[in-house]
Formats: sequence, structure tokens, C-alpha cells
Amino acid sequence: MHHLKYLNKFFWKYKQTLCLGIAFIIVANIFAIYPAEFVREALDYVLQNIEEPKTGNLSNTLVNYGLLIVGCAILKGIFLYFMRQTIIVMSRKIEFDIKNEIFNKYQQLSISFYNENKIGDLMNRITEDVTRVRMYIGPTLMYAINIIVLFFLVITQMLAVSKTLTAFVLFPLPILAISIYFVSSKINRQSEQVQAQLSEITSISQETFSGIQIIKSFTNENNSLKVFFESCKEYTRKQIKLVKIEAVFIPLIITLIGLSTILTIYVGGLEVFAGRISAGNIAEFIIYVNMLAWPVASIGWVTSLIQRASASQERINEFLNLEPRIRNFNNAQTLISGDISFKEISLTYRDTKIKALDKISFDIKEGSTLGIFGKTGSGKSTIANLICRILDLDSGNISFGHIPIKKLNLNNLRSSIGYIPQDGYLFSGTIKENIAFSKDVIDENQIILSAKKADILDEINKFQDGFNTIVGERGVQLSGGQRQRLAIARAFYKNPDIYIFDDCLSAVDANKEKEILKNLQNETKNKTTIIISHRISTFQNADKIIVLNSGVLVDSGNHEELISREGFYKEIHISQSKK
Ligand SMILES: Nc1ncnc2c1ncn2[C@@H]1O[C@H](COP(=O)(O)OP(=O)(O)OP(=O)(O)O)[C@@H](O)[C@H]1O
Ligand SMILES: [Mg+2]
Repeated sequence: MHHLKYLNKFFWKYKQTLCLGIAFIIVANIFAIYPAEFVREALDYVLQNIEEPKTGNLSNTLVNYGLLIVGCAILKGIFLYFMRQTIIVMSRKIEFDIKNEIFNKYQQLSISFYNENKIGDLMNRITEDVTRVRMYIGPTLMYAINIIVLFFLVITQMLAVSKTLTAFVLFPLPILAISIYFVSSKINRQSEQVQAQLSEITSISQETFSGIQIIKSFTNENNSLKVFFESCKEYTRKQIKLVKIEAVFIPLIITLIGLSTILTIYVGGLEVFAGRISAGNIAEFIIYVNMLAWPVASIGWVTSLIQRASASQERINEFLNLEPRIRNFNNAQTLISGDISFKEISLTYRDTKIKALDKISFDIKEGSTLGIFGKTGSGKSTIANLICRILDLDSGNISFGHIPIKKLNLNNLRSSIGYIPQDGYLFSGTIKENIAFSKDVIDENQIILSAKKADILDEINKFQDGFNTIVGERGVQLSGGQRQRLAIARAFYKNPDIYIFDDCLSAVDANKEKEILKNLQNETKNKTTIIISHRISTFQNADKIIVLNSGVLVDSGNHEELISREGFYKEIHISQSKK
């Protein structure tokens, strides 16, 4: 239960609504309890009349009782409505708060967190787990308070009528609560399995649809169908098992309520004959028993819901209590210099234990262009991530104009860098929105200009909807080269002080590359620029090039210097110029 303590701050935030909700529950229950007394009085009145008829007003009195009962029912209904309007609405508001809190936390956590956790898991926390917690805040809390209030009111009334009868009538109820608890725990466990199977079906479908091109070209449809079929079969098996357990639920409740009712009539009858209670009391008791039965049944249900919510909250807390590994240590505004220096930088990825960089040192002068050259896996992107502080270094020192990277305001640092990633990820939305991603304002002219500089304007204009063409998951499929150039336009629109191009011209042909590099030279004239590539032609404007091999800096210099001496760079230069 202690995991749920986290939610107390939300109860405090909505304390007024909560108190109002509790008040409505109490009032609704008071109106629920009166009709039982009216039934007893009416019945006794009728029985008295049968024994010694009074003239006249029998039917009038009965109509009055009837009206009172209906009136109470209406008032009870009204307050039940208010109760739901307060407590359930509060639970929805808290759900909203929690979801936002988790989402915000997710965004703060470092990239390593995303490498360590499955996306499906993160999604489940924010959807299913939050839903279970909401069930605790809303219905569970409502029923729990309702049970307490109703028990207090009903049992006080019952005891006032007859202690013996109360004892007999209440006797089967704990058995009811315990059995319901076991049955509903079983139902919950089984429905969790059903849910897990459903997730599997979802991910199978998702993977199939994403990879449909490969499936078709390998004519692998039958295999996919078989996997899907097996998963669905398992789902049906689990679902049927769940239905079988659920089928026990209602008969169990009805049997136990029946038992209580029979006991009421039998023991009550004996009490009437002994003259200790009236016949009307039996009717009153039957109403009480029926009033208590469902709440008692829901004790078991509520308990199992609380357990589930607690398990879910534990999973949520696991993430909420995580501290982002990369934190901002400086809230003051800091100026970001383009003089970047790497001193003896080493980095080993925690999860794979791969040493990506080994004592790398180099300097970039403000306004100059640095090329980073190396084979695949040599650590180029790792350097880019270190500069953006997406990763933190293990040892060594990175500084911007002599200020260590950790002393810079992280927000300022990242805002002043235009990073163009290797894969050119685009978000679902229009081309326009993707280019203007870095800013809230959409400046049409600037968007067109950025697209022009990235040499993609002509292609955008050829699309039917131009800049309003939807791209991303549910949009037009762009070629790899088009995606890369859109990502470049996105960085141009941001107009940062420092540019990092991570192998983002790899899918662009030689002519386009030349064109973009020419524009780049104009655009980045006075800006620190880092160009990462495994193609030597990309470095034509670089003031300095560093050559990496398996995380070690093996050579550096400008293009002429590097081809004048024997080495890896010259080797590749010769082989690439032959093509
Ligand atoms: N997030 C990560 N977690 C664990 N290991 C990683 C991660 N990213 C990269 N690595 C490993 O670190 C090494 C360097 O990777 P990096 O991405 O820096 O290479 P790269 O030079 O950019 O290669 P490419 O040209 O293929 O993009 C590789 O061996 C890679 O497997
Ligand atoms: Mg890379």
C-alpha cells in the first residue's frame, strides 16, 4: 500500500472536491436508508388494520408512504449523481496530472534510459498503469467510503431493532466478502494475462505493418499469418478461461444474499412469534440485507483493485524517482562560445561496455569547420552526442571557450547547436511543421529559404500540397535523401551558432552534395561547423579533419596534409576517387 502514498499530494490538491464528494456519499446513504423504515411502518400499519380495521384513511396513508419512498429514492439518485460528478471527475483530473507528470519526467530522462527500457513498457506506464491508479482514486475510493458510511448507518439501525437478528443476518456476509476477494483476484490475474496477450497481438501486427515491404518481397505472408494465428488462438484460450471464472461471480453473490434473506425470514419469524419484533421489521431487514450485500461484495473487489493500483503505482514510481543522469547545473544564462576543445576524452557505453572513444583530444576554433572522418562504428556520432550533452563523458574535459561543458546552461547549450542526425527522423505532420520544428513561430519566408538552402525546395514544390504535404508515419513516403535534406532544412531554420552534420549527406548524390556544401559554406561562414562523414568529398570546405579508428584519433590535419602522407585517409581517398 505504501506506494500509493505518492497520490496523497493529489488528494490534497483536490481536497475541496474530495470533501464535497464524501459529504454527498453520506447524504445519499441517509436517503437510501429511510425507505426501509417507511416500508416497516407501512406494513405494520396494514397488518394492524387487518386485525382491527379503522375506517377511511388506509389507502391515503399508504399513498403517503409510497410518495415518501419515491421521494427518498429521487433524492438519493440526485446525490449519487453529485457524488459521481465530484469524485469521478476528481479522479479524471488527477489522471490528467499524473500523465503529464510522467510524460514530463520521460522527456527529462537521458537517452541511456531509452536504451535500457522498451518503448512498449514506457507506453504501458502512461496508459494502463495510470488507468489502474485512476480506478483506485475514483471508483475504489468512492465505493470504499460508501461501504463505511452505509455499514455504519445500516448496522446502527439493525442493532436498534434486534441484536439477535442482526447477528444471524450478518453471519454469511464475511464469507461473501472473502469469496469475492478470491474470485476477483483470480479474475484480475487472468485479465492481466489476457491483456498481455493482447499487447503481443498488437506488437505482432505493428511489426508486420511496419515491415510489410520486406514481408511481401520475401513472400513471407504465410509465416506472418501463422504467427498471428497462434497468438490469437492463445488469446481466445485465455479469454475463455476468464469468462469461466467470471461466470462464478454473480451466482456466488446471489446465493449468499439468498442465504442471508432466508435466515432473516426464519430467525425473524421466530422473533415475531416471540413478540420481540413486528412483522414489518422482517421486511425492513430484508431491505437492509439487500442494501448491504453489494457493498460487502465490493469489499473483495475493492481490495483487489487497491492491490492492482498499488502494483501499478510501484511501477510508475520506479520511473518518477529516477534522476536524469544528465542534469542542468547552471540556471543562469550562459553564452556559448564556438571555441570547442576536447581534452583526453574517453567514453564507454554502460550497457554494451563498448569503449567508443579513447583519449581523444582536438580543438575547433570559433567560426571554423571541422571534419570528422572514420569508418562505421569509429565513434563519430558519439562525439556529436557529447557536444550536445546528450551523453556525459567518463573522463577528460570538453570546454566551450574555456568553460567546462557541465558549467554551461544545458538549455542554452542545446539551443545554440543545430544537430542534424544521421537518420533524419521526421515527425508526423506537414513539411512546414517539420522544418519549423525548433520554433513556435512559423515564418513562411524563412521556411522557403531554409528548404532552398538544403536543396529540397524544387522537390517540395512538386508535391501536390507543397509545404503542407503530410510526412512521417502516416504521410507521404520520402526517400532517404529527401528525409536527410528536410532534416538539414530544419537545422537551417533554427539558425544556430554551431552546426553538427552527422553523416547527413550519405543518401544524397554527388551533385546534390556539392550544391548543399556550397550553400553550407555561405550559411556557416562565421559559425563553428562540424561535418561528420565517411565520404572524403564531403570535407572539401573543412579547415581541419580528424581521422578516427575504433575510437582512437589516428591522424589530423587539412585535406592536403592528410593526402600528402601515407595512412588510412589517403588509402580511402584513393579508393573513393577511383569510383
Ligand atoms: N547508445 C549506445 N549504446 C551502446 N553502444 C553504443 C551506442 N551508440 C553507439 N554505440 C557503440 O559505440 C561505438 C561507436 O558508435 P558511433 O555511433 O559513435 O559510431 P559512428 O562512427 O557514428 O558509426 P556510423 O558511421 O556507423 O554512424 C559502436 O561500436 C557502437 O556499437
Ligand atoms: Mg554515426
